Amino acid sequence: TGYMTLDTGYKNTGSCASTITYLDGNKGILRYRGYAIEELAEKCSFVEVAYLLIHDKLPNTEELNAFKSLLERFALIHEDMIHFFDHFPSHASPMSILSVMVNSLCNYYPEMSDDPLENIDMTAARLISKIRTIAAFSYKKSMGHPLVYPRHDLSYCGNFLNMMFDKPVKPYTVRPEVVATLNKLLILHADHEQNCSTSTVRLVGSAGVNLYASIAAGINALWGPLHGGANEAVIQMLEAIHADNNDFEKYINKAKDKNDPFRLSGFGHRVYKTYDPRGTIIKKACDEILTVLNISDPLLDIARKLEEIALSDEYFIKRNLYPNVDFYSGIIYRAIGIPTNMFTVMFALGRLPGWIAQWKEMREDPSTKIGRPRQVYVGEPERPFIPLEKRD
Ligand code: CMC
Repeated sequence: TGYMTLDTGYKNTGSCASTITYLDGNKGILRYRGYAIEELAEKCSFVEVAYLLIHDKLPNTEELNAFKSLLERFALIHEDMIHFFDHFPSHASPMSILSVMVNSLCNYYPEMSDDPLENIDMTAARLISKIRTIAAFSYKKSMGHPLVYPRHDLSYCGNFLNMMFDKPVKPYTVRPEVVATLNKLLILHADHEQNCSTSTVRLVGSAGVNLYASIAAGINALWGPLHGGANEAVIQMLEAIHADNNDFEKYINKAKDKNDPFRLSGFGHRVYKTYDPRGTIIKKACDEILTVLNISDPLLDIARKLEEIALSDEYFIKRNLYPNVDFYSGIIYRAIGIPTNMFTVMFALGRLPGWIAQWKEMREDPSTKIGRPRQVYVGEPERPFIPLEKRD
């Protein structure tokens, strides 16, 4: 009953009260639990930030060690789950594999079913640790290479890189600069208030379903090219420009053409009307790691040029369209050997602690109700029924 406000895409609807992430889209400010993203990205490990998001406090040494040992304890996935990988077609999307595997975790680790909040620490650690193993195993399986199991002597990011790239014939050396860069990227992706995938996790979770299933739903939302899938789409766009002899004008014009669905991937944001603060840090990290690794990637030059052209074009200026988190991240992933079709999986690894924190906040809030938006009905008014033989 009553008057309904239509807000397509929820541009101006607050769906919850939250203490997790503060975002000022006009000033380009992003904070997790009150801490500036710039400082967290520089000074913290991803595991510390995950703890911060979930527990609303930076862990002391004891808390951090306890959390790390949970992550070590839960790093394996049930061996039976490894067989899942054998039954996907070879071209299967890593995002679909990831959501299927995460959804299935509730069958192997059903401790959440009675009281979902009682075991939240364990479940959070299981998810954060296992998603990394699932992602790396999925890559190894896609390559037909033997699996590399997690090790207790490596950091969260070091372990992931080792599981991805270590081979019996060519042992992988975990480079601290690469670990530090990956760590930074994951921190910068760790939460972003009520974005599409996070709202999905909350909405699905509000129906009472378990955390694993809620997160799997979030992974599916993230997959979309307007959301996390943009990091993969950026590289495809830069490659296309490269193959087109750097015909920037063509792509800029396509992006501006309202009859063409093409958009500049990695540009624009629902909330930021200025440079995405994560993008600023990632752009710098990108320059730094490519220098350290002595890589010269033509796609980086193309990205820089594209940014320069767009930022001086009336169309993009008028609409406040700036590079977002996805614009330069893919160039880093490429440089450290992550295949393009896994870029969005990397985003999911980073976003997971945020999804968990938001799900937990939602479940702990006694005022939470099942998410159930209304609509503005614009269909036919009541119509008389027409029997089959009389229909034209
Ligand atoms: N290229 C060309 N035009 C654009 C772009 C773009 N990347 N982004 C927005 N616009 C135009 C859009 O056509 C519209 O123009 P007009 O007012 O003339 O109709 C205006 O800018 C506003 O766009 P909108 O679609 O109403 O804005 P939104 O808040 O609904 O969409 C967005 C936000 C991120 C989906 C959009 O900017 C976009 O599609 N960007 C490209 C995809 C992308 O990079 N996504 C990653 C977002 S950041 C990380 C994440 O969420 O995963």
